[in-house]
Amino acid sequence: MSNIVIISGSPSKPSRSLAISAYLEKRIKAEGLNASTISVRDLPAEDLLFANFNSPKIQEVLAQIEQAQAVIIVSPVYKASYPGVLKALLDFIPEKGFVDKVVLPVVTGGTAAHLLTLEYAIKPIASVLGSQEILKGVYFVDSQIGYHEDQVTFIDAEIESRLQTSLNDLLSRLKVEQLK
Ligand SMILES: Cc1cc2nc3c(=O)[nH]c(=O)nc-3n(C[C@H](O)[C@H](O)[C@H](O)COP(=O)(O)O)c2cc1C
Repeated sequence: MSNIVIISGSPSKPSRSLAISAYLEKRIKAEGLNASTISVRDLPAEDLLFANFNSPKIQEVLAQIEQAQAVIIVSPVYKASYPGVLKALLDFIPEKGFVDKVVLPVVTGGTAAHLLTLEYAIKPIASVLGSQEILKGVYFVDSQIGYHEDQVTFIDAEIESRLQTSLNDLLSRLKVEQLK
């Protein structure tokens, strides 16, 4: 069975990214697939800051990513890029850690002006980690999603439809892989 890992890259509490991650995880599980979420918030801050490769928690997360067929990166925009804490986590992943993995980037920002964070920040790191299947991605503006305690409370109909299309694209690629 396919494993899908969702990486939530926001250090905030509560967080839109984590609410979207929970929403995606539920949708994927409803399709009968395995999904789990890794939140940077749950990782030991000192291990992240000092790049402690021996950290048991970091090792656990790396094993989870290694076993995944697909990775969904859900991140806020920070200064027209993504948070440093997410980079700290991604820095642990081996150079070819995303080879043979489908990657779907999902980004939330306060303004549409930083839409290109998808193209110039998230996609290049997915590429450098070796993914050859990086999907188009979805960009949310804050007003398009409501959340409470890390759960989505409302979602703009158009963005929900785009998210579902991206998810369907991801799931269909996994199904094709399984048939090969
Ligand atoms: C430190 C910081 C920097 C931010 N920089 C940007 C930015 O450059 N462009 C933008 O559109 N939004 C920016 N935002 C807004 C967040 O991207 C936006 O509110 C996002 O939805 C927050 O997601 P989260 O709740 O998962 O942290 C910034 C927020 C913070 C806290």
